[in-house]
Amino acid sequence: MKNSAKPLLRVLAGEPQDTPPMWLMRQAGRYLPEYRELRNQTKNFLEFCYSPALAVEATLQPLRRFPLDAAILFSDILTIPDALGCNVSFVTGDGPQLKPIRSADDVPVLQKTHFDAHFGPVYEAVSTLGYKLNKDIALIGFAGAPWTLACYMVDGRGTRDFPEARRWAFGAPAEFSRLIEVLVDSISRLLIGQIDHGAEVVQLFDSWAGVLSAPEFDRWVIEPTHRIVKAVKKAHPETPIIGFPRYAGPLYENYVNETGVDAVSIDATLPLDWARSRLQSKVVVQGNLDNIALLSGGDALIYAVDNILAELGNGPMIFNLGHGVLPATPPEHVQMVYDRVKGYRV
Ligand code: CP3
Repeated sequence: MKNSAKPLLRVLAGEPQDTPPMWLMRQAGRYLPEYRELRNQTKNFLEFCYSPALAVEATLQPLRRFPLDAAILFSDILTIPDALGCNVSFVTGDGPQLKPIRSADDVPVLQKTHFDAHFGPVYEAVSTLGYKLNKDIALIGFAGAPWTLACYMVDGRGTRDFPEARRWAFGAPAEFSRLIEVLVDSISRLLIGQIDHGAEVVQLFDSWAGVLSAPEFDRWVIEPTHRIVKAVKKAHPETPIIGFPRYAGPLYENYVNETGVDAVSIDATLPLDWARSRLQSKVVVQGNLDNIALLSGGDALIYAVDNILAELGNGPMIFNLGHGVLPATPPEHVQMVYDRVKGYRV
């Protein structure tokens, strides 16, 4: 890792760069007309994710427009529930739907051989990307974190605050922890598999970390994440791990202190001076450009970019959004941000 030419890996190895490395969550996707065209080739979104050639092409599309510092594997966090038998489907306009798990009897079992075969096409995409990428670009793998995957698996769809998952976690923690255990094992296995096949960094998306009270956050976000970090580090001690406990507010601090992640991705609501003093002194900080600022553009966007660079630019940072690129975002706005970030020097 040390001496790597890749700016993203250098920052993650503790060597801050004069100009921060940059990538964007959901940098591939519907805001790009070329993605929409590619996506039309397959009706079913998961099938698209499991087609190595399509996944590779979708991963590479944003890099042809913007020389970003990382490629993120094109896939989805719900591939794990899918591998575990939750009948995941994506209904256009309605988001994901799953067969809900509501009792300990419904908790799936991780069948390792089946799981590894299920992810064969994903690993193939990772390997192909490993030799197709330009030498300066780092390859990021990812998975959903246990709490966020449990939210979808228990509620059965996206909701505002996942009442069924929270009710189960709160009311029958011993039962709920069996689901979390299966997810810790599955997620660790997938991340290790991605790294085995060439992923150089992995990110854990805990998009719904912010709906938990503080004690529940310790139990369902911090503890399981720490176990995943230990398992991944045991197999691949050198591979950096980025954690993204979205909307965790002040709980970001314990997350950084206790999970063992190398970098933390912050959402757009976290105050930057707080992130600098409480988080950046310990780990690399990534994020917090508001995806609506990116969508709307103009002077407000430039101001927001400059503010992030001014607040975090003197420490280890990765330029990114607070949450994924929205489908209505004009690609030119991404170019504007790219030019502004790459024009910056400490
Ligand atoms: O960042 C990237 O470029 C890599 C690809 C990626 C996707 N999803 C592609 C995708 C990544 C990293 C994800 C993560 C993901 N998926 C998360 C965590 C991050 C977050 O956004 O909070 C979550 C919660 C999901 C679950 C998910 N996948 C939802 C809720 C949806 C539907 C939303 C919608 O707009 O319809 C998806 C579908 C999805 N995943 C799309 C893409 C490009 C759109 C589907 C399509 O193209 O037809």
